[in-house]
Amino acid sequence: MTINPYPVMLPTRNAGRDWRVLPAFLPLPGMGGLAVNAFLHKGAEPVLVDTGLAALGDAFAAALEAEIDLADLRWIWLSHTDADHIGNLSRLLARAPRARVVTNFLGMGKMGLLGLDTDRVYLLEPGARLALGDRELVPLRPPYYDAPETLGFLDTRSRALFAVDSFGALLPEPADSVAAIEASTLRDGLVTWSAIDAPWLATTDRIALGRSLRALERLAPATVLSGHLPVAEGGIAALTALVHDAWCAGPSAGADPQAIEAVAEALG
Ligand SMILES: [Fe+2]
Ligand SMILES: [Fe+2]
Repeated sequence: MTINPYPVMLPTRNAGRDWRVLPAFLPLPGMGGLAVNAFLHKGAEPVLVDTGLAALGDAFAAALEAEIDLADLRWIWLSHTDADHIGNLSRLLARAPRARVVTNFLGMGKMGLLGLDTDRVYLLEPGARLALGDRELVPLRPPYYDAPETLGFLDTRSRALFAVDSFGALLPEPADSVAAIEASTLRDGLVTWSAIDAPWLATTDRIALGRSLRALERLAPATVLSGHLPVAEGGIAALTALVHDAWCAGPSAGADPQAIEAVAEALG
């Protein structure tokens, strides 16, 4: 099939219990494409998680405003300051006067370097949680990531896990859910994307990575919300198994030719 070369917003839909996903699909020439998701919880204190692609500014704002009056938005959870997560933050801050940006010290510093208004930041100290009345968002660092300020979370009520860039997968076309993706397509897309987005996986401590994957399984999330994967219902074991098989067991699936050890070996 021919894929439109420009990013597109897809229809907003439910994402497990209590959450909505505002999905987009970003074509990557020669590699298929990547989901780029933001998430919304419309409770007493509405939370938007990430702000989409700047290239989709109008469409993203329209999708969000179809869900919520921006005057009611209280929190913008900023997973990290990569362009695919922070794309419409400035615009939303101007249109959502009560919203505060939830991030950590490094995230706030990077916002400042990008010329964003740090007066709107709600600084999440290490160990702190975001209390929303009927639930808390417990911050966690996902098993792999591409920016050190990365903040995922577990929603204590719905048990939705936001894994930020972890479990992202290149896909040949948009999909409504992980269940709709053929198993080998998901495996290949997830392994390839993890090697691109977190090349340090090739030299990471496999035992430590395996431990963090098992710890994630023990949290027993009901739904996995990834920035770069369609919503995954029904637990996390299938996803952690793919990561484990690729990076913790046997030869690394995506050995990094630019790893220092590999370069040193090539140079004798
Ligand atoms: Fe990222
Ligand atoms: Fe990302």
